[in-house]
This record gives sequence, structure tokens and C-alpha cells, in this order.
Amino acid sequence: MNEIEIILEKTTLSKDDLVTLISLEGENRNILLKKAQLVAGKTIGNNVYYRGLVEFSNICSKDCFYCGIRKSNKKTERYNLSDSEILDAAKFAYKSQYGSLVLQSGEQTNPAFIGRIGKLLKSIKSLSNGQLGITISLGEQTEDTYQYWYNCGAHRYLLRIETSNKTLYNTIHPFDDNHSFEKRISCLQSLQKVGYQTGTGVMIGLPFQTYEDLADDLIFMKNFDVDMVGMGPYIEHEHTPLYKYKNKLWPLSRRLEVAINMIATLRILMPNINIVASTALQAIDPLGREKALKNGANIIMPNITPTNHRKDYLLYENKPCIDESANDCTNCINIRIEMAGKKVVLGQWGDSKHYFSRNKNL
Ligand code: 5AD
Ligand code: FES
Repeated sequence: MNEIEIILEKTTLSKDDLVTLISLEGENRNILLKKAQLVAGKTIGNNVYYRGLVEFSNICSKDCFYCGIRKSNKKTERYNLSDSEILDAAKFAYKSQYGSLVLQSGEQTNPAFIGRIGKLLKSIKSLSNGQLGITISLGEQTEDTYQYWYNCGAHRYLLRIETSNKTLYNTIHPFDDNHSFEKRISCLQSLQKVGYQTGTGVMIGLPFQTYEDLADDLIFMKNFDVDMVGMGPYIEHEHTPLYKYKNKLWPLSRRLEVAINMIATLRILMPNINIVASTALQAIDPLGREKALKNGANIIMPNITPTNHRKDYLLYENKPCIDESANDCTNCINIRIEMAGKKVVLGQWGDSKHYFSRNKNL
């Protein structure tokens, strides 16, 4: 056995082992990917679940240095879908048997926004006879708000930690109360406490990020006992402050490779969680998400935002599918998933198995 095969035989992986796995290239990398495929086959099987993604508004009160829809980017045209546009997208997801929906937007915390989301959640539940699962990804909120939205019908929440290295977190966000690392952690704790299937994630290939940081990110996910993870490559955006470091970044192809290594390693570390094949993978490689599904991911989020607004929800450059209608996307995704040797499961929520093993009394 070579060094990698020896690491992959271990029952517990050390931080050094994780660093080795995440940074693999060439033939040894294939050994890691094969192992992840094996683990996935035994634990979560070949099934892939859909979440129809509705990016309903790019209005954001925050100013993250990496994000194209940050408040200070005056070049972005702001939009806010009407309730009926959002409900139409939900109907589309329901009719297409997507099983679940993700509602995502820039961060807003005003009472009107909070109440609006509550109403929408109830309407989506009722238009789908309670059958559409709902994930929300609406940033940092109070525990009361999380509880209110949970009571209205949301049952999964995505809030990426972005990086578990506090110093790096403070480098890629403004250093103020509105962007605090501690607050992000406490929000994740609140989400778990309320009872959400809780998802987090990181960006891979950020300026100044090291393989050690990425290993710590995986350890963070494991220690936090998350149910779902969505992580993908960092992609520079011209109208953001981090753009000035573009010459310090790994090449895009390496960011993609390391992102897939992270997914494969996480599948081995947390065999029964849900892992998303994130859209940013596809911005680098047309088949990026399918590569993720092949090597450990089991969730895909087809974009069902009405086409006329997609061009304005540009978190990063080269975002895919901004010209296509939701239908075009469904067809092309279906075929590509099957080509990756996976099976699309329609009409089911595809909940995180990990959530139920964590909450054995459920
Ligand atoms: N590159 C990659 N991912 C990004 N996100 C925001 N900006 C970028 C970027 N430039 C991700 C963040 C956020 C999610 C909604 O999108 O991780 O949590
Ligand atoms: Fe909107 Fe970061 S810029 S949450």
C-alpha cells in the first residue's frame, strides 16, 4: 500500500491526513476519489436529489469583500421578485417534481422582510399540499426569526461559515459588528437548536487560504455535526475589493480540483450528510457539478429563478445558465447526471440521513 492508501484505511483522520488528501494531484488523487465513490455507494447510494433554487432578491445589507451583490457594488442592478413570481417558480418546482425548493436572497433583517418570508413559506406549503420541502438561505437572523420561519414551514437552512479561520474571515469581511465571525457561529448554533437540518460550507481557493485552513474547515464541519454542506471554489468578481488579489490565487483549474478533493474527503469523514454540487463548480467547468456528484456530492440545485433576473444575481463572474429558461436547465441537468452514473430521484425531499441519526428520537 502506498501512503495514501494507508491514510484511507484509517478509522480516524488527523489534520495532517486531511491536508495530504485535500492537496492531492495526479494518480494519488484518483485513489482518494475512488474511495469517496465507494463510501458514497455504501452509505447514501447513487441517488441525487434536486432543490429548485430561487434567488428572489439581490438586495443585501452586507458588504462581504468577495461578493458581487454586496451593498457597495453600485454596478449591480437591484431586483426583488414579486410574491407571484416566487410562487410561480415554486409551482414550477412542484410540477417538475423537484421535491424541494431553496429560497435564497441577499441579507435583510427588517420586519417587513421577515413577515414576507413567513407568508411565502406558508403559501408554498399550501400550493404544494405540504409536499415541497423548503430550504432557506437568508443569512444571519435572530433565533426568534429562525424559529418563526421554521414554524411557517422551512425545515432546512444554509448558512456558510465561508472559512473557519477567524483571521481569514476578518480579512474577507469588513471588520465590524455586522460581519462578525462569532455572530456567524452563534447563528449556526441557533439553527441547530431550533431544529433545522443545518447546512454550512466554505469557499475554496480564497486569497491567503492554505491547505491547513481547508483541513480545519472540514474539522469544523465534523465538530459542528452539520447535516448538509455546500462548498465551492472562490471565483473573483471584478467589482469587489478582493479582486485586487487576483494574481495571488490558484489557477481556476486547481481551485476546481481542490474543491472536488474537499467534497471527496468530506464524504469519507461524514458519510451520511447531504453534500451539494455547488453552482460555482459549473462556472469553472461545464461538467464541474457532475464531477462533484460522481465523487461524493448527492444534491444539485437547478436554478429556477425567472430568467430575466438571473444576470443580476452575480455573486461571482462567469455564472452559468443565466440565459436559459428553467426548462432548458432541467433537461440538460437530467441527462448530465445520468451520464455521471447517478440516479435522479423525483418527488422526494431527500433529507439528510445524518440529521435523523443525530436526532434519534425523531
Ligand atoms: N465566489 C464563490 N462563491 C461566492 N459566494 C459569494 N461570493 C462568491 C464568490 N465570489 C458564495 C458564498 C455565499 C454563497 C451564497 O455564495 O459562500 O455564502
Ligand atoms: Fe450579501 Fe455577504 S454581501 S451577505
